Amino acid sequence: MTRTFVYQQGELSVGGVRLEALAQRFGTPLYVYDFDAVHTALDGYTRALGAAPHLICAAVKANGNLALLAQMAAWGSGFDVVSGGELERVLRAGARADRVVFSGVGKTAAEMDAALRAGILMFNVESEPELELLAARAARLRRPARYGIRVNPNIPAATHPHIATGLRQHKFGVEAATARRLYGAYRSRWLEPVGISCHIGSQILETAPFERAAERLARLALEVEAATGAHLRLVDVGGGLGISYQSGQRPPSLAAYAAAVRRGLRALFPRGGGRERRLIVEPGRRLVAAAGVLLTRVLYVKENASKRFVITDAGFNDLIRPSLYGAHHEIVPLRRRRGATAPADIVGPICESGDTFAHGRALAPVEAGDGLAILDAGAYGFVLSSNYNARPRPAEVAIAGGRARLIRQRETLDKMLQAELVGVRGGK
Ligand code: LLP
Repeated sequence: MTRTFVYQQGELSVGGVRLEALAQRFGTPLYVYDFDAVHTALDGYTRALGAAPHLICAAVKANGNLALLAQMAAWGSGFDVVSGGELERVLRAGARADRVVFSGVGKTAAEMDAALRAGILMFNVESEPELELLAARAARLRRPARYGIRVNPNIPAATHPHIATGLRQHKFGVEAATARRLYGAYRSRWLEPVGISCHIGSQILETAPFERAAERLARLALEVEAATGAHLRLVDVGGGLGISYQSGQRPPSLAAYAAAVRRGLRALFPRGGGRERRLIVEPGRRLVAAAGVLLTRVLYVKENASKRFVITDAGFNDLIRPSLYGAHHEIVPLRRRRGATAPADIVGPICESGDTFAHGRALAPVEAGDGLAILDAGAYGFVLSSNYNARPRPAEVAIAGGRARLIRQRETLDKMLQAELVGVRGGK
């Protein structure tokens, strides 16, 4: 992968735009996304998947900004949503409902109704009671519910335990035997078995688990078709392809990933024919992570006998990945200064020791007032932000064609507090 954010005359820049200028114009903490890089990543998937019919359903959970979704929809992307809120986002962003799949273990009746009314492409059903409820809602609304069962392929993939999903111990999907039974058990004129899906985890840096999961999916799909007469034309292999957050991580190329998936699915997509089917992928991180940075400013530098702390105006309420998953994000100055690197703990202002972006990181010289960029923050960054410590959420800016555009206003204190109802009566 090529880096989107590069130094030009000592200034970190994207598409010719200097990030320090953005930090000054829009304030910090600030998320900045390079839309052109997202476009390139989407194109990369399209090219890698080749001529065979496919649909890219970008995982909205990775980055749900409306402007970004609208842009992706305009580029032809579909979406994977996991809540009524995400469905509403993509519809408001102008996405076509027939390019939306709905995943998640806890869909409510209201969320199903909204998706049925919108006419989404497929529900990825994750349990028997969910299928039962979906059948009931579809009959009640007299709307077809196109569904696939999400299968838990029981494939280990090396990643952080919080984001591994494809093992029996995880709450996702159903076992193959249950899937076989479910496709046969629920028949109703409003329930249409149209696909099958799986998702084995996230930030996966090898292709073998994807191939093995795809193989299991293919075998199961053929068995179900033979047993029930259904035509599972939508084959959804989920997302999960990793990126390089630090040197030494070597993520597979999109071509290698696509080849592995194709090998795994050979039985469903035989060379030169077979039944009409469409491959669905649900990439999140790989589309948007490297396209985004979080800009922050150094508030103070303090040293004690053993450590140097660089205290930033961003905290884990703005970007929680390092605190939550021990995730590594490269952190670089917006303007290069001369001098040697020295180790520092880069920490936020939140009143918890866990509010640390990096421990003992070799950092170029920095002083209070300097801007820093936390790299690879375009996925699972803003979406996981919160108001912890009563901190308003950051603004978001898009760069496209060398121009910067505000795509989300910085939250104001008034906005942050407006939903709360105080209701205290006089004390006397
Ligand atoms: N499809 C489904 C059903 C998923 O659950 C996920 C991610 C994706 C697609 C997209 O996966 P990706 O291509 O982005 O790996 N917050 C964590 C990641 C959680 C991933 C959850 N599911 C992090 O910051 O690393």
